[in-house]
Parts: sequence; C-alpha cells; structure tokens
Amino acid sequence: MSIQTNRRDFLSFLGKGIVGAALLPQLITGCNASRKAQVTEIMHSLKALDPSAEDALQFAEGFNFDMLIRWDDPISNTDRFGFNNDFTAFIPMSEGNSEEGILWVNHEYVDPKFVSGYTEDTIDNKTKEQVEKEMYNVGGSLMRVKKNASGKWEVVQNDPLNRRLNGFTDIPFNWPEPIMGKTSGMGTLGNCSGGVTPWGTILTCEENYDMFYGERKEDGEMVYAGSYDVGWHKYYDNPPEHYGWVVEVNPKTGEAQKHIALGRCAHECATIKELEDGRLVVYTGDDANDECFYKFIGSKAGSLSEGTLYVANVEAGRWESLDYESQAILKENFESQTDVLIHVRKASKLVGGTPLDRPEDIEIDPITGNVLVALTNNKPKGNYFGSIMKLEEKDGKYDALSFEADTYLAGGEETGFACPDNMAFDTIGNLWFTSDMSGSEMHKPPYEAFQNNSLFVVPRTGPQAGQVIRVATAPTDAELTGPFFSPDGKTLFLSVQHPGEKSPSLKELKSHWPEGGTAIPRPSVVTVTGKALEQIQGLG
Ligand code: FEO
Ligand code: CA
Ligand code: CA
Ligand code: CA
Repeated sequence: MSIQTNRRDFLSFLGKGIVGAALLPQLITGCNASRKAQVTEIMHSLKALDPSAEDALQFAEGFNFDMLIRWDDPISNTDRFGFNNDFTAFIPMSEGNSEEGILWVNHEYVDPKFVSGYTEDTIDNKTKEQVEKEMYNVGGSLMRVKKNASGKWEVVQNDPLNRRLNGFTDIPFNWPEPIMGKTSGMGTLGNCSGGVTPWGTILTCEENYDMFYGERKEDGEMVYAGSYDVGWHKYYDNPPEHYGWVVEVNPKTGEAQKHIALGRCAHECATIKELEDGRLVVYTGDDANDECFYKFIGSKAGSLSEGTLYVANVEAGRWESLDYESQAILKENFESQTDVLIHVRKASKLVGGTPLDRPEDIEIDPITGNVLVALTNNKPKGNYFGSIMKLEEKDGKYDALSFEADTYLAGGEETGFACPDNMAFDTIGNLWFTSDMSGSEMHKPPYEAFQNNSLFVVPRTGPQAGQVIRVATAPTDAELTGPFFSPDGKTLFLSVQHPGEKSPSLKELKSHWPEGGTAIPRPSVVTVTGKALEQIQGLG
C-alpha cells in the first residue's frame, strides 16, 4: 500500500498558518543559533518502510536498534524486569545528560500462560503462588541505564536506583479522606502510558484495572468479567476502588502516591503543564469506547490534590466542572467529592462530558501549544481506524474553560495508519506515533492493508512535511509502545509489548521474538538510534 497523507488536512491542523522552519527554534528549549541553522536546512528524506506481516522488529533504512532489556531479565540480585512493558521515561542523571539516566518502564498486565504457566479458561484452579507471580510482574521498573564505551545503552545491574513497583507495593492516596476506609492501597496495576512532571517524577496510569480485582456495580454487586479476569481476587480481596488512578513515582526513591483528584477511570496517560504561577494542569483520557477526556486545574501552586477536575464537552467546546459543591446535579447523585472522583465516568456524563472514541495518549505540541489526543477507534460506532484530535485552548491558556477541537489526522488507507495510540514529539517537533490494532483483528478486514502494528513519524519540515511515514513494524501480535526521546534526540526508547499474545498455547506459539527459534516471545525495551533518526531532527 502506498503511504500518502492528506497534506491539506495536516496544514489546517497546525492552525497557526504555515509552520515553517523559521518558527521552530525559539519554541524549543535548548536550541542555539547553529542548531537553528540546521533545522532550516532539513532536506533529508526518509525511505518509508512497507507494511509487514513478519515476526520481526523491522526499521526503515538509516535506523538501528539494540535490545536493552527483556521480560524476566534481572535488574538486581533481588528483582527482575516485569511483563508487558508499555510507557518508558528517561530521567537524565543531570540536566540534558543523554549518556546516563534512570529509565522508568510501565508493566501493564500479564499473560498467564507465559508469566505463571496457568493455561485454563477459568480461574478455578489458579493457585496463590501463580497469582503472586503475576502480581509481581505488573507495576513498573526503575533502572539506571548508561551508554557503554561502544555507545550502546546498558542497564547498570544492581545499581541502588534499580527497583520494582508491583502488585504488592503499598501506595498512599494523596487525598484528605480515606478510600474504602484506607489511606493507601496494595500495589499498582494496569500501568499503560504516563507522563513526566516538570520536577522529574513519573506519572504512571492505571488503565484496565477491572481485570485484576473486578469492578463494583452501582448496586454493590461485584463484576469480574470486565475486560478480562485474571482472578487475583481469589486470594486478595482488594477493593476495585483502590485502582484506576494516576500514580506519581519518584524515580530516585521509588516512593509513590495515587492522585485521587485526577479521577478514577481507565487512565491511558497523564500529561502535565505547569502554569506561570506554578499551578498545574493535567490532561488525561479514559481509554474505552464512549468515554471522556479530562483536565485537572490546580488551585494552589504545585498541588495535584487541590483544584478542580473538568471533563471535555467537545460539542460545546467547553470544560465542564466536576466540582461537587457547585454542580447541583452532582449533589443529587453523589455523596461527596470523593464519591464523584471514584465514579467519575458516571459523573462526567451527568455534567455533559462528550463520549469519545477511546481517548488514549496525549501530547502538547511544542510548536503550536495545541493538545493532541489519540482517539484509537470505536468499532461499535463504525470508527475502525481512529484519528488524532487537536484541541486548542482559548487564547492558548491551559487553564481556559473553553476550547476548539478539530481532527488533526484521520486513520485510514489514505494516510496509511489505523488506531493511533502512543505519541511523542522529538527535539524539533516532529510527531512520532504508534498504532494499536488489536491482535485478534490484525490482518483481517478492514485492517489487512496495514499488516502488523507500526511506528510512524510526521515530519514537521523538509520535503516530507506533513506526510505519515512508517519507520518500524512490530513482531507478530505485538504493539510498539512507550516511545520516549533522550534529551539530545539521538536515542528513542521504545517498548515492544505483547508479542505472540494470540498464541493458542505454549506449544503453538505465534511469535518467537526476540530470540527466534522455538523460544517463547518476550516483551522487551529497545533503544533506537541511527543516522535517519538524527537527520530528521537536523542533527546529522
Ligand atoms: Fe493500554 Fe489504552 O492502551
Ligand atoms: Ca496504550
Ligand atoms: Ca506520549
Ligand atoms: Ca491501546
């Protein structure tokens, strides 16, 4: 399939007239005069990769990748790297350091046949030992990483910074009232995507939490079917209300807290912006069909508990308040602000939140300041290919209560991608994004043309400005997740999640990546480098 984009749509998305190279440098931190000159001279073209159905991680010409870490690899004498790695965040050891830092990696969920060896369709015979093995494999990993003498990234084994957060880690709630009678919860799970705060901590987001301890219906009945039931509730009767939060992690200490004020839902990610007066604004989406997109606006500098949560009314271009005291309809339906935040999905509909097509990753465009939201798809509504939405806050103010929303890029055969998920901007504002077609639907109508999930870039400037270019394709059943750039833009950290997920059994494996042969597949993080990665940022 040829990869073409609707360039007119792209330019209209930019919304501030034609964005030329001259507009770029002063908006990007760290650019100096010579860098400005380079950026204006990007004439390099990438050779797009064709779609592929191979069980391999493949890159376009000019890119290289190295394995950094695989599931179950040791990070210390006591800890191992968890399963199904998603969001990655590189925190430099010193400002701008692109040689050494702390890497945080999310571990979203487990595939029992690989992690605990449990292969039955029901949870009836799952042992406590198997459940505990699975609980260890979610959460996140912190690892010191550095470039070795030959320039290759390595995990520094046994570094004191290396540690795991998992399904057992006790995590306090950042909220004045207890949640289900407790001031902390057991573990973090469903850790999908996330964000990094201006003060260098990690926001990791608990997404499909209902697969672990179920969900409570309004009448109090527990429902365990949800997205998928791994059955941990058989041995640990943890309340579902303790999950579905945005969790902040200090990468230097591993200390964590759950930010209740940001609401409870299937959080894909959290993207934070600090206002000039020190107050914080956080954007976060609820990744499910017909669920909403939220914004927290702090009322006190530096606080992620004092402030108001709003939900996007996209039709009216308005942020609707979820403040219990000032919204009569919330007072009629809930007992307290805490009750609203725990059941934010219900509250959002009552105040006029717009149901969206699975709001996933969110990034703030460093050039225009627009907020981009990946809307993956909504198959029951006939939206198979998804899109990326652009949201422009009134007067460019992140604490505005009105906005304009439009489509930036629509998925489909014309643009060459389907089901956008994770996004990242590089050092000059090129947009990189990954696709998330589900393993059970890839290679079937209407997705055949796209083949395996992929990584794309939309160059900001140069001869390919506005085009959607495939730069990598994932192994069988896998999704590329967690793209994150080192400060110098010369390394892209990238997760390869759930290869071989649709394997019927350990004897019938659909993927053997990364080891090949007859090996079981292993979710892994790779480092991507190369001339093409540098040239597209004017670095080469
Ligand atoms: Fe875990 Fe919304 O992807
Ligand atoms: Ca995702
Ligand atoms: Ca992102
Ligand atoms: Ca997804």
